[in-house]
Amino acid sequence: MSKPRYYFIGDGDKANLDFPSLRFDYLRCPYRFEAIFEHGVWRVRGAIEDNAMHLPEGSQCLHYGQQLFEGMKVQTGADGKLYAFRPRENARRISDGARYLHGPEIPEELFLRGIEEVTLANKPYIPPYGSGAALYVRPFYLGIGDNVGVKPASSYIFRIFVTPVGPYFIGGFGPEQGKAFRVSEYDRAAPMGTGHVKAGGNYACSFHPGAEAKGSGYAEALYLDPVEHKYIEEIGAANFLALKGDTLLTPKSGSILPSITRRSIMELGEKVFKWKVEERKIALIELDEIDAAACCGTAAVITWIKEIAGADKKWSFPFDKRWQQLYDKLTGIQTATEDDPLGWRYEIK
Ligand code: PLP
Ligand code: COI
Repeated sequence: MSKPRYYFIGDGDKANLDFPSLRFDYLRCPYRFEAIFEHGVWRVRGAIEDNAMHLPEGSQCLHYGQQLFEGMKVQTGADGKLYAFRPRENARRISDGARYLHGPEIPEELFLRGIEEVTLANKPYIPPYGSGAALYVRPFYLGIGDNVGVKPASSYIFRIFVTPVGPYFIGGFGPEQGKAFRVSEYDRAAPMGTGHVKAGGNYACSFHPGAEAKGSGYAEALYLDPVEHKYIEEIGAANFLALKGDTLLTPKSGSILPSITRRSIMELGEKVFKWKVEERKIALIELDEIDAAACCGTAAVITWIKEIAGADKKWSFPFDKRWQQLYDKLTGIQTATEDDPLGWRYEIK
């Protein structure tokens, strides 16, 4: 299928933005991609200009949280090409979520086409290589219709918007940029609930713990397991990593989001750096024996942790050069300054 082309005045030029100064904020770009599921089929509307949405007032997404989203980045490589990172993994995760919320899956082909089309339609807004910024891509999925009963919708919207962003945690990555997190007394997900899917409701219930943590000077809340409040789960919108001796550790839990960044980091640790890697339960008290800690995600990339504050104990961690090695390798693969031994770059053209 031939792809539509979009022309800007000065086509190929960059929008008049100070890319290196961007923060993680929404900036409205000209186009968004949309597809509608009705009568059992996905119909592609393509790139559209209106950033406001007109929804039936009874829509399931508005009342009962039948909603999912994804988060990805498109970056300009050192070779001037445009790259997404492992987008098929995001396609798989949103369809896993759709099955759990009893809605239709999004075919991989539709997901990839949407990412490509919305990226190319907003080309001047893609931050240049070396600016430290990226095009954040936000696919989302809404159950809609004339409804009042508690049941899945029969119609759905799949939309993708993009916005150029800077670092999620102010300051970005570096030996001076450790962040401090506070252990939350609240849970973000129930033991057999929706923590493993990227449903909006998981984030609504993180507002209060997040506000408490930020209100007392921390970057975000760190969640413990919702059964015993004993094991580390994840941090805000990022998974947890630790270094203990020569082993890279990450929590095993059914109620955290299966992070694509984390999976990639664990694979780099094991296959590229030949470290020992383990996915297992990590008790909060095991922080006594941990040498270094970090969190990771699309938005957070790798953020090293300088402090974790529990109810009656604080742990401090140094910067470990292995975080730098992982950061350089991961971002190098994403921006084509490194080889791509595991085939993770996805060129958009
Ligand atoms: N955990 C939560 C709760 C998140 O929202 C995210 C962000 O997507 C992550 C972890 C990291 O996941 P990923 O690396 O796939 O972006
Ligand atoms: C991401 O890392 O893409 C996320 O989804 C984080 C987001 C909730 C801001």
